[in-house]
Formats: sequence, C-alpha cells, structure tokens
Amino acid sequence: MKRTLPTTLDPSGSAAREIADLWWLMVGLGGIAFVVVVVALVVGLRRRPTEESDHRPSAGGRWLIGGGVVMPAVLITIVLIATIVSMRAVSSAPSDDAVRIDVVGHQWWWEVRYPDEQVVTANEVHIPAGRDVVLELRSADVIHSFWVPALAGKMDLLPERTNTLVIDADRPGRYEGVCAEFCGIQHANMQLVVVAHDEVEFAAWLDDQRRTAAVPTDDLAARGEEVFVSAGCAGCHRIGGSDGADAEPETIGPDLTHVAGRESLAAGALDNTFSNLRDWILDPHAIKDGVLMPAAELDPDELDALAAYLGGLR
Ligand code: CUA
Repeated sequence: MKRTLPTTLDPSGSAAREIADLWWLMVGLGGIAFVVVVVALVVGLRRRPTEESDHRPSAGGRWLIGGGVVMPAVLITIVLIATIVSMRAVSSAPSDDAVRIDVVGHQWWWEVRYPDEQVVTANEVHIPAGRDVVLELRSADVIHSFWVPALAGKMDLLPERTNTLVIDADRPGRYEGVCAEFCGIQHANMQLVVVAHDEVEFAAWLDDQRRTAAVPTDDLAARGEEVFVSAGCAGCHRIGGSDGADAEPETIGPDLTHVAGRESLAAGALDNTFSNLRDWILDPHAIKDGVLMPAAELDPDELDALAAYLGGLR
C-alpha cells in the first residue's frame, strides 16, 4: 500500500514538536562544534612550527582546554538543560477533556479500544484533532513499541504493565506509524495509522463504529455470514450484532464489525480491496508468513461468499 515515510522532522503534535526542536538544537550545536574543530584542524595543519611557537606551549594548552573541556562542557550543559525541559513538557499531565484509548499490541497488529464508547477497531486510531488523547498501551504477547513520528515519541507496549502515552494532533489528517520494537518476523508488517478528525467528524465516526455490523443485503453475503461461523472464523474474530459471531472471544484476531471501512488489511500489509481480502483469507501465510490465522479450507464458492460478506461490513 502507498505509505509516505513517517518523519520526526514534520511535527504535527505538541510532543513531536518538542522532540523536533530538541533535535534541531542538537544538530545546530553539533554543527558549531564540528566547524570549530575543522577550522582548528586546518589552521593547525597549515601552520609551520616557528622558533617562537615552539617556546610557547601555553597557546596550545589554551586550545586544548578551550576546545577539549570548555566547549564540550558548555554544549553538553545546554543540551542537558534543553533535554530536561523537553522531557518535562512531553510528560505533562493530559487535559481534563482528554479521550482515553486502550491500545494492545499483538503479533502483528494493533487492537484499539475506546473503553468509554464500547468501540473496538484495529490498526487505526481515530482521534479528535486539537484534544489530548491518553493512550493506555500494553501487549498481549511480546514487547512492541507504538511510534507515530509526526505526533510523539516512542512508547513500549509490555505484556505485564500498562504504559501511558499522551498524544495530540494539531489538525485533522492522517499520521502514519509503525511498531518500533522488533517483535518477530512480521514486525515490519505491524503498521498503524492515526486519523485525526475535527470534533463533529470524530463524534460521527464513533457513532458509526458503535453500530452493529451491516446485515447482508444479498444471498451471497448471507451465505458468507454462515460460512464465517461454520468455518470457525468466529473462534477468533468478533462481528458485533452478527448471529453466531457476536460473542466477545478472548481477543485473538481483530474485531471485524466494520472491517470493510478500514484502509488496510493485515496491519498495513495489503490495501483493503475485495481481491486482497479474498487472497488474505485463502492463504494469509503467503502474504504475511507466521501469522496466527490459518489458511481457510473453503471451496471457491464459500470463499467468494465469505469475502462478499466481510467486504460489506462498513
Ligand atoms: Cu510489534 Cu514490532
């Protein structure tokens, strides 16, 4: 799928701006130190020792103390102070109107829950722009790391404790992210996107997500709903409001209530198109080797029906 390379140098959130400012300060000071050292080196190389300089070791001593002790001490002190200021700013308490979202890392996808809204989705974190968002991060298996460079720094997702990361986006938009901690062979296919909406759009999105799943409108999709249950998909995936698949399983695979409305499948491995959905169900390991989901043992008619059903779940 088409992704732009996420960058820390185009910040769109408060925490990311702090980090980018600190980076530019370090680049600037490092640049100054580099220039001073290069100039001193060139001057030293071009100067021929004279009788006079040979008898004046104090000049060299001044360079050593100035360039080797004073300059590094001053620069490192400036960076230390700036770092402490940035760390305090980045870890400041969220505002009272913050939205809480629980994010659970899985090999290799993101479970995203809105505990106050009874909304569950995957691999997409929808937030209101201009408001603090408190992410409660944990892992269902190994260590992952949540990183959306345009919005904030990295934060690990651990199996045995919850880490909190506060993010905010200045304006509506799409902000791409990745898992930033090697977590197995499909670590690279553990992508996510944060979608920031204005308040009205965000409320509408929540309303939409709270709906139960779309009821099949044709025979093929209705057959697909039966296949979903009979083939065992419902053992790992929930579809809110669907006959036989509404029970909340221990979360193994993503909630599929609105799967067709998401931009990607398999945490960014595939664009969310009908043919990709069909290919994915047919043999997920051919696309993302090592995933928990087994290949479907379905005849082609059943596969078409299942894909038609899931493809209608907007
Ligand atoms: Cu999850 Cu890398």
